Amino acid sequence: MVDAERIVEKLKDLRRQGADRDELLRVAVEEMEDGVDRYDWVGVYLLDGDELVLHSYVGAPTEHDRIEVGVGVCGTAVAEERDINVPDVTAVDNYLACSTETKSELVVLIRHPASGRIVGQIDIDSHREDAFEEADRKELRVIADWLGGHF
Ligand code: SME
Repeated sequence: MVDAERIVEKLKDLRRQGADRDELLRVAVEEMEDGVDRYDWVGVYLLDGDELVLHSYVGAPTEHDRIEVGVGVCGTAVAEERDINVPDVTAVDNYLACSTETKSELVVLIRHPASGRIVGQIDIDSHREDAFEEADRKELRVIADWLGGHF
């Protein structure tokens, strides 16, 4: 499990030292991926109009660096305005495969705190089936909420 409190404290320190949003997002994905075996690919997509654009990631390179809202797990999360936990990606019709090794996926939306507007998402892939629990989402939500305050 990620330790959201520790990661947010680290991000706050970096912010105090003058880190910009791009650096905060880069460090956030590194910290979230580090030390959790179940997390094989961790990325942040930002919403640009009706497209999600990959900002930062740790893991294998992906061809899905731009995803339309409504497409795939990532685009569906935005279209339906909800976090999505997919225990078995083979069961999803419009799943976009980044890697044949991926078995499960979790998307946690990043929202601007004042307006509630969706600004992006944290996307995590696992090579294990059913890798994510509600506790993962809760920790990641803390990080997503902090990041959302910087848009
Ligand atoms: N699987 C995602 C695409 C992004 S990759 O997992 C990095 C989807 O179906 O939207």
